[in-house]
Order: sequence, then structure tokens, then C-alpha cells
Amino acid sequence: MPALTLKTERLILRLWKQEDLSEFAKMNADKRVMEFFPSALSEEESNSLADKIQKELKEKDYGLWAVEVKGGASFIGFVGLHYQDFTAPFTPCIEIGWRLTLEHQGKGHAFEAASKVIEYAFKELKLEELVSFTTIKNLRSIKLMKKLGMTHDPQDDFDHSKLPEGHPLRPHVLFRLKNQEI
Ligand SMILES: CC(C)(COP(=O)(O)OP(=O)(O)OC[C@H]1O[C@@H](n2cnc3c(N)ncnc32)[C@H](O)[C@@H]1OP(=O)(O)O)[C@@H](O)C(=O)NCCC(=O)NCCS
Repeated sequence: MPALTLKTERLILRLWKQEDLSEFAKMNADKRVMEFFPSALSEEESNSLADKIQKELKEKDYGLWAVEVKGGASFIGFVGLHYQDFTAPFTPCIEIGWRLTLEHQGKGHAFEAASKVIEYAFKELKLEELVSFTTIKNLRSIKLMKKLGMTHDPQDDFDHSKLPEGHPLRPHVLFRLKNQEI
């Protein structure tokens, strides 16, 4: 069953449209947005990532939703859930993740969308736990995790197995959020 559309006061979290791809590529080419990733993405890499994202949203009842502002910008990035199974002590897991265009950061949109995603994950999907992780220097993302009520145990910190040893982005923090209702 494809993922549902989710709505918040200001935002619509929806399946992707073909028209999103050019905005997505622009965002992924922006070095300021991609500061904490190994590199910005080419248009081809961005389209290939969009394919994978859309596949997960169509095949599962969750994924990284395209975010639209009600009565405003039709695509400001993605927020949602993603199944992760790379080698790490906490995988396989479902992570909550986000990436917004620079123009739409600093407006509380990531928090608003992520709060809705958490509600959906816990109330509808009845997931036991969500995690989120990022490189230790990504303070904006870490701030968002804290604001969402996620908790951090330093013992969970890890070196990302997909990055080579010595890479400055390799050290990661892990945040967790347990479903209190089950
Ligand atoms: C991580 C990321 C999603 C955070 O976005 P964000 O817009 O800073 O997060 P929030 O939605 O929580 O917004 C918070 C800011 O909006 C401000 N704000 C403005 N209007 C607001 C409102 N109505 N409600 C809440 N906050 C509001 C807050 O004051 C806060 O500003 P501050 O950080 O200067 O204190 C964003 O920086 C991003 O996309 N980064 C690039 C991709 C990335 O690194 N992803 C994570 C990889 S693991």
C-alpha cells in the first residue's frame, strides 16, 4: 500500500511529482544544504536518489515524503521515514530524516513535518522506536532531534560504516525515540 498523504497546519507531506525533481536537484547541488554529506549531488545522482525515495513510498506505508507549503512553495524538500540496514549496532531500523532547501529552513517547517511523521509512525504504523543520526558537527539536525524529544546516549555514537576511516564526517551521533503507547 503506498504511503498516505499527511497534513499539518502549514504543510502537506505527499507522494512525489515529476515537477519536484528539478527543485530536488537544485537543493542537492547546494553545498550549504549538503555541508554535512560527503558531497553535493549531480543532477543524475539526485534523480537516482529521488527514484529510490519514490519506490519506498510506493512499496511501503512510509518513506521520505515530499513537503509542500499549503498555498505556497510546491516543493521545499523531504521529511519522513527510511528503512536502514547498513552495518551498525542499531540496524536494521527505521530512521526519521529531513532535508530542506536553505530558503525554507529556519521557519519551523522541519519540526512541524517531523512531529506529524512521528505521530503517524507511532499511532498508525505502531512502530516501537524511531532513530535519527547525523555527523557530530550537524548541530541544526541535532537541535531538531532534541526538540522532537529524541534522546541521546553517548554509548550509541558510532563511526558511519559507509565513510572511510579518517573521513571528517565519519563520527556520528544516534538519537532514539520510543513509542510510549505500546
Ligand atoms: C536539519 C534541518 C532540517 C533543520 O531545519 P530547521 O529549519 O533549522 O529546523 P526547524 O524546523 O526545527 O526550524 C527551527 C528554526 O525555525 C525557527 N522558526 C521560525 N518560525 C517558526 C515557527 N513558526 N515554529 C517553529 N520554529 C520557527 C526557529 O526559531 C528555529 O530557528 P533557529 O534554529 O535559528 O533557532 C535543516 O537544517 C536541513 O535541511 N539541513 C540540511 C540537510 C541535513 O543536514 N539533514 C540532516 C542529515 S542527517
